[in-house]
Amino acid sequence: MIPIITIDGPASSGKGTVARLIAEHLGFHYLESGAIYRALGLWVHQHSTNNVNVTPDFVIQLINSLDLKFIDGKVLLAGSDVTSELREEYVGMLASKYGAIPEVRARLLQFQRDFAKEPGLVTDGRDMGSVVFPEANLKLFLTASAEKRAERRYKQLQQFDKSATIADILQDIRARDEQDSTRSTAPLTFDDSFKVLDNSELTIEQTIDLILDWYKSC
Ligand code: DC
Repeated sequence: MIPIITIDGPASSGKGTVARLIAEHLGFHYLESGAIYRALGLWVHQHSTNNVNVTPDFVIQLINSLDLKFIDGKVLLAGSDVTSELREEYVGMLASKYGAIPEVRARLLQFQRDFAKEPGLVTDGRDMGSVVFPEANLKLFLTASAEKRAERRYKQLQQFDKSATIADILQDIRARDEQDSTRSTAPLTFDDSFKVLDNSELTIEQTIDLILDWYKSC
């Protein structure tokens, strides 16, 4: 069986950075499932006028033409490099909005499962342990306080030279938490089969060491 580690958690919990570094450490493949939902959000945005009057059927139809490739750490949408654009706050909100449509999630399931290849996979998102890879070797729920996450996101945006205030980011984070945890299909949640880690007071290195210890002993 292909070894799989899933890391689910709310926006800006650090799951992407942690998952990528763990994948690198173990020599495993890495799948950032949020990038798939973000790419769909951007694709819908590019095919609609201000995302007004976008129906679930319209979004589902657009999945048929979603030409998405992950190459050398870059995300290509219909051949264009959208890596940086995908990080925009509005794209995250659209991903969250359209990701709440049950048929969208059903249509993206196999695409995500196909990333499970030897020698192993580390993946992060909202429902990777609960729905996409329920049989994963190690399932984590990584979280941190909303304030801490807003602070991290603020620093991240500064690196990309993008302006935003912490107050706006905190508001977006809370809205996205609410939307992602209350949707009817595959909400952000965990059960007894998950290890829960609040990394508000941990560095990335400490978080990774802890997870690698858990992986070794499972
Ligand atoms: O992980 P992220 O913040 O890049 O994800 C952006 C949005 O995509 C998130 O708010 C909800 C949606 N998403 C999802 O519904 N399921 C996933 N497995 C990953 C992301």
